Amino acid sequence: MTYTISPESTVLAVLGAGTMGHGIAQIAIAAGFQTRLQDISEAALERGRGRIVAVLDGGVSRGKSTPEARDAAIARLSVATDLATAVRGADIVIEAAPERAELKQQILAAVHAVSPSAIFGTNTSSLSVTGIAAASPHPERVVGMHFFNPPHVMKLLEIVRGRDTAPEVVGATRALGLALGRELIVVSDTAGFATSRLGLVIGLEAIRMLEQGVASAAEIDLAMKSGYRHPMGPLELTDLVGLDVRLAIAEHLHRELGEVFRPPELLRRLVAAGRHGKKAGLGFYDWSSGEARPPAE
Ligand SMILES: NC(=O)c1ccc[n+]([C@@H]2O[C@H](COP(=O)([O-])OP(=O)(O)OC[C@H]3O[C@@H](n4cnc5c(N)ncnc54)[C@H](O)[C@@H]3O)[C@@H](O)[C@H]2O)c1
Repeated sequence: MTYTISPESTVLAVLGAGTMGHGIAQIAIAAGFQTRLQDISEAALERGRGRIVAVLDGGVSRGKSTPEARDAAIARLSVATDLATAVRGADIVIEAAPERAELKQQILAAVHAVSPSAIFGTNTSSLSVTGIAAASPHPERVVGMHFFNPPHVMKLLEIVRGRDTAPEVVGATRALGLALGRELIVVSDTAGFATSRLGLVIGLEAIRMLEQGVASAAEIDLAMKSGYRHPMGPLELTDLVGLDVRLAIAEHLHRELGEVFRPPELLRRLVAAGRHGKKAGLGFYDWSSGEARPPAE
């Protein structure tokens, strides 16, 4: 099968309107693609749509875009809670649902039952693309499309080639990535790929250091920002990613790659307490003012 990818002819569907899904939909409509955004939660769809409009509005107020371009982008977006409505006739489906293999498999099976010729890109941060693809009779059309948070700022697209992914599907994913203004890397399907595997080592170690009283969260973050030129500290980044999301990734990498990825107790405790990071207003920092401040405890 050959694929021609262009904003004029390629229809996208993004499944899951949370932290990542709404951001992926936003860069897609800004790049000219008709995009359907789907979530099982009406509230998540509303929130996601609101955030998309806010980012596009921000572009206009900073002079990077025009009101006409913003309105044209918004007109390319449609939202649905029904999966079939979102994926029927879509050429590329990007799944950004929670990091659970069986959920991603269920979604893939449902997508290929409705749209068997669609390319299915999973935004998983760590799970096996080959394993997810096993849920479809078309594993050659399944590929990892790992975007970064927030997609309108972080330009990387990590393309993960599953065991059965067809070369033309990798080619189409490259073409999509370039059309979305991404910088591309193509990696093989190993736990955590290139990015999450390295990022988690630093993130989990920073949490262990906080747990052991080595320094405060702000000091640990400053160590990496001022000492190593990281644009953001590892604890602030964990708040941005979501502590629940990082815990799910750590549990998977711990099983696959060993002790270095064992989730720290502090991470488990904060997740159990609902301190999921910026999206919850509280994580390692208090985000209620919109900025990272030390939490009152
Ligand atoms: N948060 C990050 O920084 C980040 C970065 C890169 C990749 N990822 C990956 O992206 C995926 C999504 O993560 P997130 O942070 O956006 O999660 P999130 O919790 O913010 O959003 C997930 C959304 O999926 C929806 N959902 C649940 N079940 C669904 C279903 N069956 N169909 C459609 N939608 C469903 C939820 O209602 C929620 O709105 C995960 O695989 C994660 O590992 C996350």
